[in-house]
Amino acid sequence: MEKRSELYRGKAKTVYQTDDPNRLVLEFRNDTSAFDGEKVEQLDDKGMVNNRFNHFIMTRLEEAGIPTQLDKLLSDNESLVKKLEMIPVECVVRNIAAGSLVRRLGVEEGKELNPPTFEFFLKNDALHDPMVNEYHIQAFGWASKEQIEQMKTLTFKVNSVLKSLFEQAGLLLVDYKLEFGVVDGQLVLGDEFTPDGCRLWDAKTREKLDKDRFRQGLGGVVEAYREVAQRLGVELS
Ligand code: TMP
Ligand code: ASP
Repeated sequence: MEKRSELYRGKAKTVYQTDDPNRLVLEFRNDTSAFDGEKVEQLDDKGMVNNRFNHFIMTRLEEAGIPTQLDKLLSDNESLVKKLEMIPVECVVRNIAAGSLVRRLGVEEGKELNPPTFEFFLKNDALHDPMVNEYHIQAFGWASKEQIEQMKTLTFKVNSVLKSLFEQAGLLLVDYKLEFGVVDGQLVLGDEFTPDGCRLWDAKTREKLDKDRFRQGLGGVVEAYREVAQRLGVELS
């Protein structure tokens, strides 16, 4: 496999073409962004930690029967992935109230949500990722009714797999965001699962061990990601 030209540069990852038209290289950079790219900083080792973290989680999800974009780990900062046509919506499940839900509804942070909630957001920084519903997604052709149902089913399946995985490591999976894409007509989990795109709290102390440390200027961001990785048994270099 040969890495070729840059295809797309996101806020924290860069995507490269390869000599295989069905494969891409995902490079995890140290860039850390919040508030739709308004706050950006470089954090040493974050790319390596997130790349290895993502590989670990995607492997667990594949083992549980969830199709993912991941092919293999290439280096500390790079993974080989399947080329997908991405659906431009984000799927968010929440087990505990935090973040935008607390701001939007004025509910108390930390309240357990029964049942867990599901929300769609449009992936658009300029519009600050507005919340959308299934009618918008179909009316604007971002995904079909069938794909919407599959995204919901798979996102909740990820919840049952990861909630218990994190629980065994003494962590609460508060909420998370997933993105999906399509290859050969199949819906596949794409992008990443790392502490950049979810909320994880220590089960006993409720200490924040995710990107909220960066958003809220709490410090110790990569240290927290390393702590989570170590508790899960993710091999870091
Ligand atoms: P929110 O509370 O800001 O709506 O975010 C819910 C979860 O989804 C949280 O773990 C962060 C993640 N998320 C992203 O990673 N990127 C996004 O663009 C959005 C909207 C949410
Ligand atoms: N919307 C996400 C956040 O606030 C990601 C980003 O804006 O970079 O963290």
